[in-house]
Amino acid sequence: MTGGSRVGTLALKDPSLFQDNGWVNGAWWPGVGGGRFEVTDPATGESIASVANMVPQDVSAAIDAAAAALPGWRARSAKERCAILKTWHSLIHAHVDDLAMLMTREQGKPLTEAKAEVLYAASFVEWFAEEAKRAYGEIIPSPASDRELLVFKEPIGVVAAITPWNFPAAMITRKCAPALAVGCTVVVKPAEATPLTALALAELGRRAGLPAGVFNVVLGDAAAAARIGEVLCSDTRVRKLSFTGSTEVGRLLYRQCAPSIKKLSLELGGNAPFIVFADADLAAAIEGLMAAKFRNAGQTCICPNRIFVQSAVVDRFAQMLADKVAGLRVGSGLLAETQVGPLIEAAAVEKVEAHLAEALSQGARVLVGEGGDTPAAVCFEPTVLVGATPSMQIAREETFGPVAPIFSFESEEEVVELANATEFGLAAYFFSRDVGRVFRVARALEAGMVAVNAGAFSNEVAPFGGVKQSGLGREGARHGMDEYLEIKYVTMAGLR
Ligand code: SIN
Repeated sequence: MTGGSRVGTLALKDPSLFQDNGWVNGAWWPGVGGGRFEVTDPATGESIASVANMVPQDVSAAIDAAAAALPGWRARSAKERCAILKTWHSLIHAHVDDLAMLMTREQGKPLTEAKAEVLYAASFVEWFAEEAKRAYGEIIPSPASDRELLVFKEPIGVVAAITPWNFPAAMITRKCAPALAVGCTVVVKPAEATPLTALALAELGRRAGLPAGVFNVVLGDAAAAARIGEVLCSDTRVRKLSFTGSTEVGRLLYRQCAPSIKKLSLELGGNAPFIVFADADLAAAIEGLMAAKFRNAGQTCICPNRIFVQSAVVDRFAQMLADKVAGLRVGSGLLAETQVGPLIEAAAVEKVEAHLAEALSQGARVLVGEGGDTPAAVCFEPTVLVGATPSMQIAREETFGPVAPIFSFESEEEVVELANATEFGLAAYFFSRDVGRVFRVARALEAGMVAVNAGAFSNEVAPFGGVKQSGLGREGARHGMDEYLEIKYVTMAGLR
């Protein structure tokens, strides 16, 4: 099935935003093998599209297109490139409802969250369209009087971006907007679960004036993904790979990129601690935790996975949290009242159930949730657990679901040690009103991002990324632009 034949079921204001083929060299690309795969609505299990399933030849064609478009695109002035990106930004804003509808149907998150993500996605396009005009080089004071030493910043070349299903729009723009703005060309491989949002972004990029070959989208199901990844990693013309996803896949891509010494950005798994000290404003901590823990049904890399509460307030805090969680409305993201949508697939539910079962078998206790009726097979009732301990699976692995396990601790030293006792280091959160503690703990936590007295911290102006096995590099901020620039040192002699 091709050519937007299921667009009717998606109720778009602009039906041409529904596309079901890849986008290669400025044209919709069905793929040379003619294969298709189904995209399903996680809330209903209904198939909403059948999209092109690509083979390595298609990916090579996309890289050919990106490589051919590179000289022309990088030769344009930053001002010209950024004008196109600004138009793309405006178009994303103008089509926020349709983009959100596509996202909710393929990913499951509630429409209000989907709209917020579309605007978040657009913010990266705007930020980098402004920032790339300021990709300044340097003149270095020379140690020799007849020489000038210059530093040029140059686009790295063709970029591959492999993006996840949990943020189908924002992870594409967070990677591609800086790349495009500084003069790179891009081949994006969106997650197999969420190709429709990516294709709608490509359509808006076309309307904005991105030239053929500058932005390409290749598609593939889970089986094709490994082969597509291999082509993107092994092709020497691709000079940079940016990936968001699991640490396991990140390691594989890292290995596959080694022979061609590609520059890498990896935004990988997390196991975020969320620490509540007894001196904290507990109501603010609850508000922060609700925002961070239940966003996208707990399916974010920065989702608090371990909630450490100081023993003096743990019972009160747990009850306050349980009261809030009991009021969450779970269901289809299309319903206005829904606050927690379905998980992405049945396997995700099975993982959450397994973590929960193991925790219960080791003595944890459910305060609220788990087992309540949910409106769809892949919805999971938001759950608060007390009596969690560090040896449980739920403490060691990323649960990626709406379960909030509470651990009790006694001292600052103890909780910092517990928080850091993980191979991951993406986000960490803590709540305290003691200014000395705020500085001590912010410095002591091994994480790329620390939120103090806040549950939400992501935005386009700040550097997003992790330490330890949570990844390499940063996205967003001016640091996110540097990831797509090479430094060229030029020395000029004989000038006197
Ligand atoms: C992620 O979970 O990977 C992204 C979350 C964000 O950008 O806030």
